Amino acid sequence: MIEYTLETINKIIENAPSMEPSRQYYFISECKKIISEISAEKKRPLTFNISTFGCQMNAKDSEKLAGILEEIGYQEAESEDADFVLYNTCTVRENANTRVYGRIGVLKTKKKKNPDMIIALCGCMMQEKLVVEKISKSYRHVNIIFGTHNIYKLSELLFLYLVKGKNQIEILDNTDLIVENLPAKRKFGFKSGVNIMYGCNNFCTYCIVPYVRGRERSRNPEDIISEVKELVSGGVVEVMLLGQNVNSYNGGISFPELLDEITKIEGLKRVRFMTSHPKDLSDDLINVIKNNEKICRHIHLPLQSGSTRLLKLMNRHYTKEGYLELAEKIRREIPGVSITTDIIVGFPGETEEDFEETLDVVRRVQFESAFTFIYSKRTGTKAASMPDQVPKEIVDERFNRLLNLVTDISCEQTMVYEGKTLPVLVEEVNEKDGSLLSGRLSNNSLVHFPGPECLVGKIVNVKLEEAKGFYYYGTIADDVSIS
Ligand code: SAH
Ligand code: SF4
Ligand code: F3S
Repeated sequence: MIEYTLETINKIIENAPSMEPSRQYYFISECKKIISEISAEKKRPLTFNISTFGCQMNAKDSEKLAGILEEIGYQEAESEDADFVLYNTCTVRENANTRVYGRIGVLKTKKKKNPDMIIALCGCMMQEKLVVEKISKSYRHVNIIFGTHNIYKLSELLFLYLVKGKNQIEILDNTDLIVENLPAKRKFGFKSGVNIMYGCNNFCTYCIVPYVRGRERSRNPEDIISEVKELVSGGVVEVMLLGQNVNSYNGGISFPELLDEITKIEGLKRVRFMTSHPKDLSDDLINVIKNNEKICRHIHLPLQSGSTRLLKLMNRHYTKEGYLELAEKIRREIPGVSITTDIIVGFPGETEEDFEETLDVVRRVQFESAFTFIYSKRTGTKAASMPDQVPKEIVDERFNRLLNLVTDISCEQTMVYEGKTLPVLVEEVNEKDGSLLSGRLSNNSLVHFPGPECLVGKIVNVKLEEAKGFYYYGTIADDVSIS
């Protein structure tokens, strides 16, 4: 049993390399010693469970966190009855926060049963001062809190908690650092998200992301390409390039150039990306997609509002007409492309006329699918102090009208491919019906069809027998190409 006197602890910390990621590998190995001792004492492996809230960036971060915990010696558990429970939080809308508080409350009871349980919180919500104050005061059972800028430091913070027994909180305001080459545990063997940039500089007035994720930082193209190559050699066939606004990627080459390079990687079958800001989606990008079948026929192009007046107040830098022209050009240049979107209802000052403009764009663009959100006031953003916050009843009524319209249009759009045979990347055995497989078309539509589990991760041709609104039922086509 190692004795962690103050002197030994200080020595271990003093000896830590100052460069990353070496420093974290050092703390991973220090944690490993402690965890293996605790595990020997308890005569069982220690377990961890991570819950991810929010977007794909957070999901990707969670894979990195899981990788670190496994390296330390924890085994992943299906439920929160685990020795290390971590919430990777989101704060884009208030209801994301409310859910987290509820869940931390529940963890308190679980911790009573397993007092050695370590509870950790990280992610976007932790970048808000008031949140951390509230948690450190009222939720004392939370042991480790860190933010989005020091996500790579999990092992260092865990080490300090394990040896000192004191709750650890470390939140950085910003960072220029991009730490590469830490372990990661991927959820799917055949597909993976790949960060191409972090942060956001756009400051849309409703949005908290630039405040909690910091300024835009692009990864080096070489690092991205070598990550993708490594993923492909490990069996990945589809990558999703991730950034809050991939169009402003600037790692010495532009986003279209990066995309083009990535598609040259042998063995990679599909490339997706998220998210494209309409203000700077270039003709170059459209051309690269058009000329390269590996790039999926899907562009997520958040509209937010169809009213030029509101778009200006939102600081989106495009007009209703500009958006419509862009959508039309995309549809004209890239046959078979699907355009999906995000829309906010009830932005401060939204009038019935503004809202009608949004409905008009939805009708004209005929989105294959749309995420609709009720505006949520985020402390610190410009919109939070704008006049004329829209009353809840009005927002609810508009939201329902919008939802009905987007649902009707999605259904119509899905009908277009009924009866056709198209390649599907098989993603998983259907959760509800084990005889079915579920996968996605290049345009991101979901397809369920009967088939054996061994097809997961493969691309097969499926006849889309029946359009069911948001998805299809299909059958594997006779000329099944198992590539
Ligand atoms: N970077 C991406 C969006 C990230 S947030 C982009 O610009 O498209 C995902 C979506 O959440 C946004 O597109 C927006 O529709 C929604 N959203 C962001 N802040 C919001 C708020 N305060 N209230 C409601 N919805 C919001
Ligand atoms: Fe938020 Fe706008 Fe940045 Fe997207 S582009 S993350 S909506 S500020
Ligand atoms: Fe949420 Fe942070 Fe993503 S606020 S949407 S998890 S960047």
